[in-house]
Amino acid sequence: MSAETPANPRAVARAVAARFRWPWQRDYARAKLSWDPAYAAVAGVLSESDVAVLDIGCGLGLLGFYLRERGYKGAYLGVDFDAPKIAEAQRIARIAGMDLVFVDGDARALPEFSGHVVLLDLLHYLQSTDQQMLLREAAARVAESGVLIARNVLRASGWRFHVTVLQERFIHAVRWMRSPPLHYPLRDEIEAPLRASGLDVDVRPLWGNTPFNSFLIVARRGSRTPQEGGGLHPDAPRGTSRTIADEAAATCRTP
Ligand SMILES: C[S@@+](CC[C@H](N)C(=O)[O-])C[C@H]1O[C@@H](n2cnc3c(N)ncnc32)[C@H](O)[C@@H]1O
Repeated sequence: MSAETPANPRAVARAVAARFRWPWQRDYARAKLSWDPAYAAVAGVLSESDVAVLDIGCGLGLLGFYLRERGYKGAYLGVDFDAPKIAEAQRIARIAGMDLVFVDGDARALPEFSGHVVLLDLLHYLQSTDQQMLLREAAARVAESGVLIARNVLRASGWRFHVTVLQERFIHAVRWMRSPPLHYPLRDEIEAPLRASGLDVDVRPLWGNTPFNSFLIVARRGSRTPQEGGGLHPDAPRGTSRTIADEAAATCRTP
């Protein structure tokens, strides 16, 4: 698969999955890339860009490998504190000759960076205060032409949220996730620090065919200066990120 090849989602999932060492990793990667709409949503926004990507909590590096298969040519830096996952991502990148950089590091101490910033399913593994700090630090790393894309479960009262909590308990119990969920954020807990950092923010459901209470948050630099928009009501009119979020949502509807 290359930038010139049409991005058949199943072919992309198979190509990425085939690189992993263990059968269960291959099964996991293939399944995750096939049914989880987050990767296509991010690629829909970023694959035409050559601005560098910082992938915070990158895990096995699925997003980096997926973006390369979808034709993204910019620099990529993945950070995660799960050393075995990082080692596997580094091994694959080395063998495949892909210029993707994976670093064993903590989201609470981010490296210097400027570009696009991605946080997929990371925030709820941090305490509330750490989430706020991370969102501000992440926002500070969004370049003028960059976008911040987060996907996360939001705290809510419906059945989707309860299914998500049960699934999180399971993946921690089987030790797939090193850390347990520490705080499920409300929508405004994500929006407020991003707006206070001068970003325009769009939040919308990203359920796909999953039962989880996942939302896509797309934020980019707008006309707002830092702090100016910190107190906006969640239903206030959206800023210029709507176009990009629309693009991401449209990408996810593509089978
Ligand atoms: C549900 S996984 C998502 C992996 C990846 N973002 C994806 O969607 O393919 C969450 C990841 O966040 C990482 N993580 C959790 N807390 C972290 C922290 N404080 N610093 C760095 N990584 C962290 C975990 O190790 C795990 O790999």
